[in-house]
Amino acid sequence: MPEIAQAHTPMMRQYLETKARYPDAILFFRLGDFYEMFFEDALTASEALQITLTARSKGDDKVPMCGVPYHAARGYVARLLEKGFKVAICDQVEEPGKSQLVKREVTRVVTPGMVLDDQVLDPREASWLGAVALEGGRAGLALLDASTGQLQCGEVDGDERLVDELRRAGVRELVFSDAADGARTEAIARAVGAPAARRGAAEFERAEERLRRHLGVPSLDGFGVSGLPLGLSAAAAALAYLADTQRAAPRHVDRISRLSTDDVLLLDEATRTNLELERTLSGGRKKGTLLALLDRTVTAPGGRRLAEWLRYPLTDLARIGARLDAVEELSGASVAREELAGALRPVADLERLLSRLVLGQGNARDLRALAGALLALPALADVLEARGAALLREAGGRLRGLEALAAHLDAAVAEEPPATLREGGIIRRGHSAELDEIVAIAEDGKGWIAGLEAKERERTGIGSLKVRFNKVFGYYLEVTKPNLHLVPKDWERRQTTVGGERFVTPELKGFEEKVLTAEERRAALEERLFEALRQAVAAEAPRVRTAADAVATADALLSLARVAAERGYVRPEVDASEALEIVDGRHPVVEAVLPDGPAAYVPNDVLVASRGAPECAEHGALLVITGPNMAGKSTVMRQAALVVLLAQIGAFVPARRARIGLVDRIFTRVGASDDLARGRSTFMVEMTETAAILHNATRRSLVVLDEIGRGTSTFDGVSIAWAVAEHLHDETGCRTLFATHYHELQDLARERPAVRNLTVAVREVGDRVVFLRKLVQGGASRSYGIEVAKLAGLPAEVLARAREILKNLEAMEVDEGGHPALARGRRRRAGPPVAQLGLFGGGAPADPAADEVAKAIRALDLDALRPLDALNLLAGWKKSLE
Ligand SMILES: Nc1ncnc2c1ncn2[C@@H]1O[C@H](COP(=O)(O)OP(=O)(O)OP(=O)(O)O)[C@@H](O)[C@H]1O
Ligand SMILES: [Mg+2]
Repeated sequence: MPEIAQAHTPMMRQYLETKARYPDAILFFRLGDFYEMFFEDALTASEALQITLTARSKGDDKVPMCGVPYHAARGYVARLLEKGFKVAICDQVEEPGKSQLVKREVTRVVTPGMVLDDQVLDPREASWLGAVALEGGRAGLALLDASTGQLQCGEVDGDERLVDELRRAGVRELVFSDAADGARTEAIARAVGAPAARRGAAEFERAEERLRRHLGVPSLDGFGVSGLPLGLSAAAAALAYLADTQRAAPRHVDRISRLSTDDVLLLDEATRTNLELERTLSGGRKKGTLLALLDRTVTAPGGRRLAEWLRYPLTDLARIGARLDAVEELSGASVAREELAGALRPVADLERLLSRLVLGQGNARDLRALAGALLALPALADVLEARGAALLREAGGRLRGLEALAAHLDAAVAEEPPATLREGGIIRRGHSAELDEIVAIAEDGKGWIAGLEAKERERTGIGSLKVRFNKVFGYYLEVTKPNLHLVPKDWERRQTTVGGERFVTPELKGFEEKVLTAEERRAALEERLFEALRQAVAAEAPRVRTAADAVATADALLSLARVAAERGYVRPEVDASEALEIVDGRHPVVEAVLPDGPAAYVPNDVLVASRGAPECAEHGALLVITGPNMAGKSTVMRQAALVVLLAQIGAFVPARRARIGLVDRIFTRVGASDDLARGRSTFMVEMTETAAILHNATRRSLVVLDEIGRGTSTFDGVSIAWAVAEHLHDETGCRTLFATHYHELQDLARERPAVRNLTVAVREVGDRVVFLRKLVQGGASRSYGIEVAKLAGLPAEVLARAREILKNLEAMEVDEGGHPALARGRRRRAGPPVAQLGLFGGGAPADPAADEVAKAIRALDLDALRPLDALNLLAGWKKSLE
């Protein structure tokens, strides 16, 4: 950036001074109808936005420049945000022409986590900023959604948990103290996948005091955030960032709550991804996710609330029960559902309207929308208060008390106001006598003049009296010569003409004054009145927030009830036991997308209980699920996890009957995927996730393992799978579903009391497999992988060869040359098999290792040998021979 030299024009000096204060943002500098960018910013933005780069040279050395029309700026800002930039908006803060150089100020900084524009925000997604305060291994985190005013804080131990929580919330931007260890904050930001801003350490200090002052309370005790010094530190920093970037007091942030990190069902990132809660595994789309299925909300805040519930399932029986009561009541009353939906429909996005208005970014249309939303609340409250369920009635009660504000706004704001504040037309007639007069003059000058004319005509009896206008004298009354004797004394003579004389009256001069400045005064007054209305809204911010919260809750409950009714879900029995009993359960998403309709879905039972729980004797704690490829193993396991999750958000579940002993954590390890961004191979990811499960699962957890060990060689894989299963059974004792193609694992049931073998049944018809999709007792002996491969269209030749190899393998044969059986077949390798002849052939050079192996084989009792042991032995021998 060049020196702020005297050589620059005053305007360019103003630019450079402003830019110096926002070095890390692209500065949008308002010049007339454009936002212009200069120097480096111009180069960056022209490239990022694909707009023409020009140069400005008037009076300055040539400087690179590009610009966007101010009325289209939102779209450009959005694109820059998407690319990870921040944008500082520098506006003209006084009318041009008043002074030589128009005063300009940065009115806000838009960053990825600080977006308020409803054209940029997804109405159904929260927009979280995450602030982090680190001290030793402990971390305080605060989540702030500037667009709704929600602020939460909490503390966790260890960066891993921290990252989990930040990812669970889906934060868009992070804020750290610049005193924090750079390498550590970078690692956290990378793991979370969000850009990070570093702020002065002072913003993290004296947090409690600053928060108390902001919230206007003598103590924070009422918010349940005591004992969280690091959490509060992060919260204060988040608030400071909001105030600083938006250049306004964030009065809509009128409360702080404790971020649930302990009393919620924990879901790590892998599990959230695997269960496809908000994004599909392939393509990351919303369609085909659990959230998309559940979201039948009417309002945007309702949609955001439902997503929040899905991210933070409960572990409190009373709270789950309260939601279930509401869902039960509504799911059984279709008329009430329709009535509620109808009452919710006119309620717009209260929270976001409020936030924009409080932060000084809303326009008159936002006010009109807010008025409309508030007016609709009493009817909604009536509907809710007529219900029986406590949650619904309470929500109704929280909608009251805004009638006065609603009426005030409704009476004040025009029916269809313009989007800008400058051109008037915002305020309705009748709200302000002063404004009405100005408007009357401005819009109705002719009528006013006609009125004056008639009045004066009558008073004087001059029939030909006329009010006229010219540029030199302005408005005047013209009287013809014959009538001059009728002119009253209070008229002032201005000019004599050929035909008569021209007069003015004080009233007419006053009118003139008013007309000539009316438009300008109208705009100024309307802006003042708008500001007063904005203040009136801000003064009621807490009540509006409370109402918005109630609307969101009611809407989310309605959504769950609609889904329950339409898809035939039942109320789960949630209790403090350690059992999980799902009878005729279905996978909510799979059943919904089956081409032959949901009736084609084959329901399945999943019965399991923690080791030591009374139900365990019957159900077992660890279910080993085998079965052919494509049989439905993964589906039935995910279905169990989803039923638990649904029950603990207070939703009905797809089953005939379900009893869920509270689960503290769901772990899933499903499929294998590379995480190249984090530098880990498929197998490494799999093992890291498995390690996290073994370290963190408790007796109350639900663990779903799908084919672990698959990412490595068979022997290593079987061994790891076996040991992991043993550990979960012996040490953790939690409810575990374990799907595998290692049929050897079925032997675990003979050694461990709480292991049960289940299989997804198929029937062989000729050389075809028919999938029955039914989970039954017992084990599978074959995977039918080749049959499934045939269904998938593998070339016939490859299939035939695979069958041949499979036969060899199943026979565990070694060919006469000692070649691995795998390779035997039509395409026998050329050349004499020399080197290994010695293993079984006579007369070969002595090999002590081979002798040992041969001896061991002779001594084996094949009938007593379990397949797993055979594999282990084979592995040992191979090693000793190498
Ligand atoms: N109960 C069911 N009723 C109807 N269709 C089902 C059922 N379970 C699974 N399916 C269908 O079968 C497909 C395959 O199921 P799934 O992926 O669970 O098989 P799998 O046993 O895990 O196979 P693999 O061993 O190859 O992983 C599913 O995508 C679904 O379309
Ligand atoms: Mg599977």
